Amino acid sequence: MTTPVLSAKKNLFRTCDSTSFCKRNRQYADESSCVSPESWNPPYSLDAATVQYDAGALTGSIFKNVFDGTGSSIKVELPFQLVFLESGSARFIVDEKQRAEGALPGFPKHLTQRRYDEASKWAVIGDLTPDTKASYVSTTADLQNGIFKVKYGPNHSFEAVLHASNMKIEFYRQNELHVVLNDRGLFNMDTWSPKADDSKLSKETQEEDDPFGGPVLNKPSSSPWEDSFGGFTDTRPKGPEAIAMDISFPGYPVVFGIPEHADKFALRETRGGEGNHDEPYRLFNVDIFEYEVDSPMAMYGAIPFMQAHKKGSSVGVFWSNGADTWIDIVKTTPAESSFGIKRSIQTHWMSESGILDVYVMLGPDSPSLYRQYGALTGYTALPPIYSLGYHQCRWNYQSEEDVLEVDANFDKYDIPYDVIWLDIEYTDGKKYFTWWKSMFSSPEKMMQALAKRKRKLVAIIDPHIKKENGYKVYENLSKNDLTIKNKDGKEYNGWCWPGESTWIDTFNPKAIEFWKDQFKLGKFCGSEPNLLIWNDMNEPSVFNGPEVSAPRDNIHFGNWEQRDVHNIYGMTYHNATVQALAARQPRQRPFVLTRAYFAGSQRIGAVWTGDNAAKWEYLQIALPMILSHGIAGYGFVGADVGGFFGNPSQELITRWYQAGAFYPFFRGHAHIESKRREPWLIGEPYTGMIVESIRLRYQLLPAIYTAMHRSSFDGIPVVRPMFLIAPDNEDAFEIDDQFFFGETGLLVKPIVTEGAVETQIYLPDDEIYYDYLDGTVYSGVGYKHVDAPLDTIPMFARGGHIFPRRDRRRRSSSLMSHDPFTLVVHLDKQGNAAGVLYLDDGESTAYTRGDYIHRYFVFSGQDGILRSRSMQSSSANSKNFERSIETVRVERILVTGFDTAKLRAQSAVEAFQDKKSWSTEIDIKPAIVDENGEVVRASVVTVRNPGVLISGDWSIQF
Ligand code: GLC
Repeated sequence: MTTPVLSAKKNLFRTCDSTSFCKRNRQYADESSCVSPESWNPPYSLDAATVQYDAGALTGSIFKNVFDGTGSSIKVELPFQLVFLESGSARFIVDEKQRAEGALPGFPKHLTQRRYDEASKWAVIGDLTPDTKASYVSTTADLQNGIFKVKYGPNHSFEAVLHASNMKIEFYRQNELHVVLNDRGLFNMDTWSPKADDSKLSKETQEEDDPFGGPVLNKPSSSPWEDSFGGFTDTRPKGPEAIAMDISFPGYPVVFGIPEHADKFALRETRGGEGNHDEPYRLFNVDIFEYEVDSPMAMYGAIPFMQAHKKGSSVGVFWSNGADTWIDIVKTTPAESSFGIKRSIQTHWMSESGILDVYVMLGPDSPSLYRQYGALTGYTALPPIYSLGYHQCRWNYQSEEDVLEVDANFDKYDIPYDVIWLDIEYTDGKKYFTWWKSMFSSPEKMMQALAKRKRKLVAIIDPHIKKENGYKVYENLSKNDLTIKNKDGKEYNGWCWPGESTWIDTFNPKAIEFWKDQFKLGKFCGSEPNLLIWNDMNEPSVFNGPEVSAPRDNIHFGNWEQRDVHNIYGMTYHNATVQALAARQPRQRPFVLTRAYFAGSQRIGAVWTGDNAAKWEYLQIALPMILSHGIAGYGFVGADVGGFFGNPSQELITRWYQAGAFYPFFRGHAHIESKRREPWLIGEPYTGMIVESIRLRYQLLPAIYTAMHRSSFDGIPVVRPMFLIAPDNEDAFEIDDQFFFGETGLLVKPIVTEGAVETQIYLPDDEIYYDYLDGTVYSGVGYKHVDAPLDTIPMFARGGHIFPRRDRRRRSSSLMSHDPFTLVVHLDKQGNAAGVLYLDDGESTAYTRGDYIHRYFVFSGQDGILRSRSMQSSSANSKNFERSIETVRVERILVTGFDTAKLRAQSAVEAFQDKKSWSTEIDIKPAIVDENGEVVRASVVTVRNPGVLISGDWSIQF
């Protein structure tokens, strides 16, 4: 059975069939697959005589045969560049010469003639310098055959081979083929030709007639210049300008990424068949409220990054394009594979406009791949520590009293939390930067009261601006011409929460300056320094627009159409808000949550997965979605805990908090019509279990922060798929209902099924694992049965890891900043373990000047010594933070799996720090051994109050 697609949303959102460029390119692929590769004859040729190599780049031209309407054909030149970047990726660009140069007769004057070539400008911040150390290695024989070869990357272990004859580009790593661009010859680019006088032709003739024969796309006029969908007309003044190409991953069994979809982590095939989709995965930012699960439909965000993984290798591609994009995926059977390799994945990327701009990254493993992608698009910004605590949200907390009462209840019930949120109702008539005076008469006092308890407030500010005379934000935006324009160049108006609205055009640098101005502390009335921001509806969501969004022929800054920049807009708006907060409080790290995003948004702030529902299937799909975001660079992500729409059962919300405690972004949220569901309202014993989950989150905060810090410079996500730990275990590739948590070694499998009180956790490698709660020992690859009553989160600790915890109960994260630490040590099979703690003041930007501590803990089984050492480079000159925590101790060390026989009758161990030594008491919980002498439950040695200081070097001899 193929998964059902588009049932509820059938009429609102396009399918591939109702999207002409997708339909045409899919048909093109079908036509190509009907003939043998040798007989496939696309209208493109790569002229080998044009190819040149210079300083890290191969350049040349592709020519497209276009029929001019008189029966003869002309050649349209499509210049390409294959650039080998210093950061190790290769970038392939194809443009359209006639549009890039010179004034074309008939081209609409009010629009930029170039193909949109700025997606990389927004997404990529890394160095695009060509690698002049790459070397051109084609032999004379190669050149005679039109084959161009370049070696590049680390020690020249990568090689790109361009074949002029069939326009394929093969990418090898250590002589093994990993990625092929245009493998099936599906490269396709609609090129400019003036609109023919087709008034005499019927619509059917325009779309279906095939005057030239051959592949569908040989016909320049086969795509309409105007398109209707759902009662909206898209005028397409630049004519059809789609681009498409196929990309193969020979020998790879799985691909991941391209968020955002509510689907399994391992991407499915999309051309029908058992368990597959029959629609391509779509990337088009839309407000898809009540989205369906197990669907390839477009959602709020778009990251065109895909990872292919196989035993021994990970590679990836980034399709840098901000237009409506569809991706077909098929897996070849052994017989079909063109490489004599057992299984391959073939993908087909189709975008509505823009240049072709694709980056190929050759790994060799997942961490290297994430570094390569991060070197291009940046890494997750290190978030302020409070933003990793618990967030309490609903649509809406109705008044100041309501906010303060909820806040007080957290204290009353002794539940930690950091941030309370205000949804749209706090405003005066959904006019952002105003307050609903009767309910929020003194917002500053409310924020000050929260600040006293070290808590923050987040308020929502959306990009639609109410069109109302007298509303200064609107008047100034409009007067200064900073809004998105409609196709006629006039201010664009549409409907959203406030009623008739316009939209700020945050592609415009002046609009960004305008936005920054609105947030200034003195200007944004009622706002205090502990106010942070939530950006929603930035796809943009337009209630009366096509596909609940803006018309594609709207015009943005730079005279680009919305169609060109659609998936990028949300990121520019998020970026403007973050810039505004950074300007408002330059010493503080900004926090802004977004709903819409693009590649690169991870640099800017957190994201959540939008409007889910209080149903088990939404709890289930949240984890695969978080995994997909994480491997596509967007690690600071969460799903609405409890489910946005509807009312969760007590069991569901309890299980959701258990899972949510591990979401990098952890927020409870609910729809305006949902019943109140703050943790204390759920009722016992559920409330108690929910509170325990939140407390667990706070215990783990130092470990989460440490993992986030790591992500911020190497892109390894906090919520990690099995293949990051066991890259060669093929059985584990597709597992997406359990994960490794940061650097802790915790293997977590939240219960996401109604009524379940037991589960199977899969051990992906042959390390020793301990039940986190009772120390039961597990080993051997495969599924292990565990009990999981409602108060339990199934969780194993993998041997070999040390992580920091803070066990004191506090009201918020900042109240924990001077708390002592517990070090949790789980020894591996050899009796070793290691771990890291990163810590700074948690809120300011001082860490960027070296003001932090970074500790490395290592337990050596050989000498029985646990050591703490600094990982900081000695050049770090700022010691303010270190001084501020110089009295912070390690109050407990828990060592699981130590051979306690070695301790004999000891009741103390020796600690050494600052040339002093002292003995410190221990408790020993001996291992439980079965009749065969096998350890069933591991021993735990607790060092009580060792007295060592967290920021210094020390050791403890066991
Ligand atoms: C959108 C958001 C949701 C929010 C609501 C009102 O539906 O996704 O989180 O509560 O708008 O602002």
